[in-house]
Amino acid sequence: MKTSVLRKAQHQDLPLLMAIEETVFPGDRISSTSFQRFIKKNEGLVVAEQNGLILGYVLTLYRARTSIARLYSLAVAPATQGKGLGKRLMQQAEQDAWEKGCIALRLEVRSDNQKAQSLYQSLGYTERGRSPGYYEDGQEAIRLEKLLTLDSVQTTVERIIRFERGIL
Ligand SMILES: CC(C)(COP(=O)(O)OP(=O)(O)OC[C@H]1O[C@@H](n2cnc3c(N)ncnc32)[C@H](O)[C@@H]1OP(=O)(O)O)[C@@H](O)C(=O)NCCC(=O)NCCS
Repeated sequence: MKTSVLRKAQHQDLPLLMAIEETVFPGDRISSTSFQRFIKKNEGLVVAEQNGLILGYVLTLYRARTSIARLYSLAVAPATQGKGLGKRLMQQAEQDAWEKGCIALRLEVRSDNQKAQSLYQSLGYTERGRSPGYYEDGQEAIRLEKLLTLDSVQTTVERIIRFERGIL
């Protein structure tokens, strides 16, 4: 999965973002209005594009007066899953948060979502606690956190080298 480009979301991405959202999440979806708001804000919403198609996205929220960013959503189109794009989007989100001066990234994941939990664990996220009944259908959330350090995020130079070697 090296040919997709990661970039900020733009207004024309909205239909394909919505299509991914509706395909991968049975509930707790981000609405079209919310996506439009995040696109307008021009911050935190990164898409993976390949040949005009949106293959996935990651959404990170930043708030004033806190150096902790919140990973709000992550999704990869079903046909593209398992090829490293989820990890790449997460690493991009971490890099962006680091460059914005954040020292940690927090997120919630469904306790029945093993795939996403494995991804976060492989990236060094640790459990902070659990929130029973957090999701629309009553499922529990696991709250995770990763402290961002210079060692834990890839520098821009490292990413360019990896890209050129085709190991993204
Ligand atoms: C979770 C999701 C974003 C992962 O994206 P992906 O592109 O499929 O994941 P990657 O190929 O980058 O895999 C990264 C890691 O995830 C884990 N993983 C991926 N597929 C897995 C599977 N079928 N079973 C268990 N773990 C899996 C592994 O730890 C993997 O690391 P490894 O390849 O070094 O072993 C994607 O499956 C998805 O969109 N799922 C539906 C939406 C969702 O659950 N979003 C997260 C909400 S918190």
